[in-house]
Amino acid sequence: MSNTTTTTTAAGHQGLHWSSRWAFIMAATGSAVGLGNIWKFPYITGENGGGAFVLVYLACIAVVGLPILIAEVMLGRKGRKSPIASMRELIREHNANAGWVSIGTLGTIAAFLILSFYSVIGGWAINYVGYTISGDFVGQTSDAVGGIFGAMLGDPSTLLFWHSVFMACVLFIVARGVKGGLEKAVTYLMPALFVLMVVMVVYAMTTSGFAQGVNFLFNPDFSKLTGEGVLKALGHAFFTLSLGTGVMMAYGSYLDQKTSIAKTSITVGLMDTVVALVAGMAIFPIVFANGMEPSAGPGLIFVSLPMAFGSMSMGTLIGTLFFVLLVFAALTSAISLLEPSVEWLEERSGFNRMTATLVAGGAVWFLGIATVLSLNVWSDVHPLGMFAAFEGKTIFDLLDYITANIMLPLAGLLAALYVGWVMKKEDVAAELNMSNGAMTLFWNITRYVTPLAVIIVMYKSIMG
Ligand code: PHE
Repeated sequence: MSNTTTTTTAAGHQGLHWSSRWAFIMAATGSAVGLGNIWKFPYITGENGGGAFVLVYLACIAVVGLPILIAEVMLGRKGRKSPIASMRELIREHNANAGWVSIGTLGTIAAFLILSFYSVIGGWAINYVGYTISGDFVGQTSDAVGGIFGAMLGDPSTLLFWHSVFMACVLFIVARGVKGGLEKAVTYLMPALFVLMVVMVVYAMTTSGFAQGVNFLFNPDFSKLTGEGVLKALGHAFFTLSLGTGVMMAYGSYLDQKTSIAKTSITVGLMDTVVALVAGMAIFPIVFANGMEPSAGPGLIFVSLPMAFGSMSMGTLIGTLFFVLLVFAALTSAISLLEPSVEWLEERSGFNRMTATLVAGGAVWFLGIATVLSLNVWSDVHPLGMFAAFEGKTIFDLLDYITANIMLPLAGLLAALYVGWVMKKEDVAAELNMSNGAMTLFWNITRYVTPLAVIIVMYKSIMG
């Protein structure tokens, strides 16, 4: 740790803080903005018809995402320890049922599981920087570009290699600590990411597909919205704001007491939303200008976009910038996904930062091999195939499905219930320090609207 006034002890890390409110905002935004915004949001928007889906997603962010984000940052700051230890602390203070510790445990485990496959996809992105820079897509047919993607997925050693490179970058940053590692990385990577996004959108504006792209994103056609689409919008709100994973609690545990949690969280939520919309405004015009379909699915940015890059002027430059941007976004999320486990190991086992990082990161890397193999050698292995809901799902599919659709909403729901029903209104008000009107609004939404929305959606998604 670079700062001599801060130490991490078995008693927690009282005193270890982000350098400023801005540093926290960059770190939390770095966590929120990731593959979810640039890879997943555009393709699920494309699959679900565009504007109407975007509107529902925005409503989910406002009604479910922001209240839970505020709740989680607050729980973390009050506990001042890892998500698991913070919950233990709060349970003691509020004399609550020990089962509430599951907010921390479920979240920490979910973050660990997500990172194992997130890193594999982050590895694809690094690999694609190499493909674009060396002009591999120039003048290729769609079959050839699809073939490059397929060949990568089919080759375990390539996937393992790039997964390892990506994890090595994550460990390098996380091992350096909260200030010397996480904070430093986000203060370089986030501004770079914003600049790259602006370059991409300005480029998109010059293409013939810009009006069509904007129209697709912002002109709602409700006849295209399905019940399934509503469920996906809500699930994505959790994933994109890093909720239900202990990540925002861990980051909140390093937040100083005088920072306004509500204002800061709203800033983070807004930036995440803007980046998702801007990513859409960069991607869809390029897709339309090249006469392609917006509903291409997960291959949208790994097949359709490279094809477009391969056929347009300055495509090599723009394509390379795009994948560099994707790598930065993925990295600043991945470091946050490791933090809950590392913080917990530091407290629990007395390991120093370096050892805790190597142990947690090594375990994640090892688990990542299961995702690597799911894409090829084990593509026919369906461990929970006997249950209808999990039919045909590989280990990778299961990790994605169970974290996003079950663990995150459940842990987020519990966090909202804990704040709304276990904590006293005065305590919450003292911690959030908002005007009376804002506090009443937050309190009613967190107690009633948020939990109900999550319960209805989870019920529907589990029932099929
Ligand atoms: N929010 C990140 C994204 O959109 C992913 C993430 C999920 C990060 C959960 C941390 C915790 O890509």
